[in-house]
Amino acid sequence: MSPLATSRAAEFLWVVLPYLAIATFVVGHIWRYRRDQFTWTTRSTQLLESKWLKLGGPLFHLGFFLVLGGHVIGILVPQSVTESLGISEDTYRIFSAVMGTFAGLTMLAGLAILIARRLLNKRVAATTRGWDVAVMLLLVLMVGTGMWNTSVENLIEGGYNYRETVSPWFRDLFLLSPDASVMTSGEIPLSYHLHAIGGWLILMVWPFSRLVHAWSFPVTYLRRRPIVYRARAPRDVRAGARGSRSGSASEKRVHA
Ligand code: HEM
Repeated sequence: MSPLATSRAAEFLWVVLPYLAIATFVVGHIWRYRRDQFTWTTRSTQLLESKWLKLGGPLFHLGFFLVLGGHVIGILVPQSVTESLGISEDTYRIFSAVMGTFAGLTMLAGLAILIARRLLNKRVAATTRGWDVAVMLLLVLMVGTGMWNTSVENLIEGGYNYRETVSPWFRDLFLLSPDASVMTSGEIPLSYHLHAIGGWLILMVWPFSRLVHAWSFPVTYLRRRPIVYRARAPRDVRAGARGSRSGSASEKRVHA
């Protein structure tokens, strides 16, 4: 049994931490929005490096949305509902392990590219702040433990039915009937506990990091005209071009 299941801190981990995280998430976003909307952005580094970003970004986000869909099915939909539809636990487990492994690997590939780019590209590395490091570490924890649960526990270790413990615990938090004992009972593997704790920690850092960009989906983005960026020409070229008004040394059209 995971040591976190028997710890005296169980009440804190499985009841206090989740509510603390939700409160920080909500209040933190309101605070951030009111305090400095100018930093409410991805702080995009596309202009510094775009080749790897074009690959890593879509892979990471596609993987994330697939993973999110898996969480909705596995955590919010009770096991009784899938059983009433004739889907046995074994069928569900194999389906979720295969789909979850695919989704997790997609997210992992994207995350690996984005982290490598941030660490290895000097210009991108120079823009890295403390919150970026916190988000990167938490994402590594989440994808690592999540993949371990989905692939190793389910496919190799013979399977653990988290829909009898983790899922009801999670739902009960939102029904305002929290129950730490669900998370301390049974044989919940440590990786599920670490994964759940990491989930709340991500929620807590969210409002203070670049993750806030998730709530500002630019709906007009796909239809708007590209922004033209012009490199600043040297002084003598500018002076010569002033008369003709044609003098941009180079220009780049980007969807930044
Ligand atoms: C407290 C909130 C969360 C809970 C209770 C939770 C629970 C779970 C569970 C039970 C699994 C394993 C499913 C299985 O065994 O088949 C899983 C997998 C996974 N989780 Fe989470 N999770 C949470 C938040 C997150 C977050 C915030 C992320 C990423 C940012 C994440 C990323 C993943 C990944 C990548 C997998 C493996 C792929 C998959 O099965 O979809 N989880 N999660």
